[in-house]
Amino acid sequence: MKVLGVSGSPTKNSNTDVLVKAVLDATGAETEFVKLSEINVGPCIACMKCVHTNVCVVHDDFRWLSEKVMEADGIVIGSPTYYGAASAFMKAFIERLYSKRHLKLLLSKKVAVTLAVGVASEQMVAQWMGDALKAGGMEVVGTMTAKGTPCCFVCGPGESCAFTIWNVYSKELTGMDFGVEEAYEGYLELLPDNKPYVNGSARFLKSYRSVKDEPDVMAEAKKLGELIKERI
Ligand SMILES: Cc1cc2nc3c(=O)[nH]c(=O)nc-3n(C[C@H](O)[C@H](O)[C@H](O)COP(=O)(O)O)c2cc1C
Repeated sequence: MKVLGVSGSPTKNSNTDVLVKAVLDATGAETEFVKLSEINVGPCIACMKCVHTNVCVVHDDFRWLSEKVMEADGIVIGSPTYYGAASAFMKAFIERLYSKRHLKLLLSKKVAVTLAVGVASEQMVAQWMGDALKAGGMEVVGTMTAKGTPCCFVCGPGESCAFTIWNVYSKELTGMDFGVEEAYEGYLELLPDNKPYVNGSARFLKSYRSVKDEPDVMAEAKKLGELIKERI
């Protein structure tokens, strides 16, 4: 039995990578991990040449990656949340799976897990990836999300930027609760002169949020891997 893990995060050893690998490890199957940012998989060009052959004619690394997809009994895909969506790496990969769904629904006997890491809108992303795979005929046995390291922790000017993520996703500005304040409590302290979009002012107390420090999140990844194991 084979399970393929695909990460759409371009960050080295990212939380997305860690979670995809944790799911893979728990499957007990022969596994392989592919990081899309290290290969070249472009978007679908809508030429429709795949419609009768189930083969994408675009010449890039999807050629061999699609063979690995076809050989796998299960697939684990993970993406960071960028602009409320999957990363462009992941979006391109999913678009290219379009070539496998015509006439024969070639992905239909495969099981899948989707996961997304983000600060605020990661649930939408994990759900969207699951819906996309279901549209190709795959059985999605589980979906999970995790809060990750916001870019503001690592960019440099994060402490004085008027556009810090806390301001953008604050209940005060959005009128919605994305769980940001709760998740990042202890990671930063907003100072009294902070004014969203005018004057950023925050003190960072920790600069990295690792899923490895969250036993519940790692346990969920393991559980999803075990679910795949039961199904293949
Ligand atoms: C270009 C860009 C756009 C982003 N947009 C969002 C967003 O819309 N919502 C969100 O929750 N996080 C957003 N983020 C933050 C990432 O989702 C966050 O840093 C995440 O932890 C990255 O996961 P990774 O470390 O596994 O790659 C964005 C990050 C980048 C680089």
